[in-house]
Amino acid sequence: MQLQDILFSQGFGTRRVCAGLVQQGHVTIGGQSITDAAAEFAPEGLLFVVDGVPWEYHELAYLMLHKPAGTECSRKPSAYPSIYTLLPGPLRLRPQKGAVQGVQAVGRLDQDTTGLLLLTDDGQFIHRMNSPRHHVPKVYEVTVKHPVDERQVQRLLEGVVLDDDPKPVRAAACERAGEMQLRLTLTEGKYHQVKRMVAAVGNRVEGLHRSQIGGLVLPPDLSPGQWRWLDEVHLAALRP
Ligand code: URA
Repeated sequence: MQLQDILFSQGFGTRRVCAGLVQQGHVTIGGQSITDAAAEFAPEGLLFVVDGVPWEYHELAYLMLHKPAGTECSRKPSAYPSIYTLLPGPLRLRPQKGAVQGVQAVGRLDQDTTGLLLLTDDGQFIHRMNSPRHHVPKVYEVTVKHPVDERQVQRLLEGVVLDDDPKPVRAAACERAGEMQLRLTLTEGKYHQVKRMVAAVGNRVEGLHRSQIGGLVLPPDLSPGQWRWLDEVHLAALRP
């Protein structure tokens, strides 16, 4: 694949901008400056550096972000900064079917929720992860206002009725994790689901953190606001 096309596919700008980046000496591979925009490279696994910033070629992008509090999972946020501002430009500008599309969050977390968020430009992956049929478990660490009692845990496990659906929703797992702490596993992703379920059993969410999706645990060394590529091991942990 030509270097200019590699850069274009990774979100470094229009084809013309990418050709210019190479021709003007902004790109190095293996420590060597490459100025021929049409030079051919095998893209898979290619490491290149643009203006001193290392980049790894990915045909499709899969990443995890440690979402900090006070950010919105929307591209057009209403009150808080968008999570997309935490990503480097190329991840926001990756083209798909000719148009700038960038990666998208796999589901949304509330503005005040922290923790593990996946992003990708693979539409099928988003569909699979969000589909209720696939029952991908998501683990939430919940801080509540009032002390947790065993009856609340039992009700969350048995199922509670929310205001938008007569069918009860239940936690796939739920345990008391401290006086004011619950660990709750859900396999669906209804709007404000944790907050509404906890309210339905007479308590109130004061803090919400997603620690795990499927078999993928938020790495302790990924600080709030940081992102990382998902590798094959991470992706395997997300498969049922
Ligand atoms: N449930 C909620 O109430 N909020 C979230 O952000 C995620 C799950």
